[in-house]
Amino acid sequence: MKIIGTGSAIPSLSVTNDMLSVFLDTSDQWIRTRTGIVERRIISDENLKDLAVEAAKKALEEANMDGSQLDYIICSNVVNYYVTPSLSCLISGEINAACPCVDLNAACSGFVYGLDMAQAYQLAGKAKNILVICAEEPTRMCSWKDRNTAVLFGDGAAAVVVTEGDDFKASYITAKYRPEILYYQRALEDCPFVTYQQRGVPMYMNGKEVFKMAVNASIEGIERILKETGHTADQVDHYILHQANMRIIETIRNQLHQPVEKFPHNIERLGNTSSATIPILLDELNKGGKLKQGDTILLSGFGAGFTAGTCLFTWTMN
Ligand code: COA
Repeated sequence: MKIIGTGSAIPSLSVTNDMLSVFLDTSDQWIRTRTGIVERRIISDENLKDLAVEAAKKALEEANMDGSQLDYIICSNVVNYYVTPSLSCLISGEINAACPCVDLNAACSGFVYGLDMAQAYQLAGKAKNILVICAEEPTRMCSWKDRNTAVLFGDGAAAVVVTEGDDFKASYITAKYRPEILYYQRALEDCPFVTYQQRGVPMYMNGKEVFKMAVNASIEGIERILKETGHTADQVDHYILHQANMRIIETIRNQLHQPVEKFPHNIERLGNTSSATIPILLDELNKGGKLKQGDTILLSGFGAGFTAGTCLFTWTMN
């Protein structure tokens, strides 16, 4: 499998830490030092589907492909306006696609899960050209009265088009049963026969547990992938990690004894956009001319579940 196009789209509204401290008991200093976040983009006038369609169109354009040439659309998404139909189906209608579509929910690990799935479909001979897209609006999952969660998130979408090739060397995805450390419960319709009516619970997060799980899962995945592909940590040119907290990225970097330049980040500008962080960053690096042909790239994501995913590939676009 290889990537032949990338694209991303972010909302226009930038919300700074100072803007949050007007209605939350928090400060720019606390958020910056504990998370690395300075501002985030939040959906206001836009809607998530339109951002997703914009990202998809950009990726298709770079791949020099029309939506009708896609064999499959895999969309990583946790929440959007609809529960059904799927977001991938809504996107397909606006990019001229006529292929099967599926949404996947692996929380913030969704991009690596999506790539893993895409490669499996390719290897099974069931699809060649696949759109893997992540579109997320975590700002609609947290309570804006809860400083523990609301300060961390932003919205955004990003996509890649993949086709057959030899760039992808290995991927490793995991899920460990830890629902109690990070969850969001949607409201369900009342039913006269049910004894428990579910009104919905905003996102709950045990930050310290999530922090530990994130570092451990990421390190486990990275070490495993390096071993499987016969690479040393030094041979990786870019570690594109899920942008959840700058301190998580720094802890992982220190454990791998790697220089800061190898760990690009945009968390300071965009916050945690769930599964969209990795493909948004990949697109920024691609469009910014930061990726050279032959570079070795490692992606590592982690999120609610607790899920994690790591993969390694060679960059051959340019
Ligand atoms: N502003 C100001 N103070 C805050 C705050 C905020 N936004 N959020 C929490 N605090 C306070 C706490 O109430 C606590 O006060 P206390 O010492 O009086 O009890 C203090 O700051 C320290 O809180 P703590 O939770 O121990 O901070 P932390 O160093 O663990 O950082 C996180 C909190 C959430 C930033 C950090 O744990 C984290 O990033 N975890 C991972 C989260 C994540 O990655 N989530 C997404 C996964 S995909």
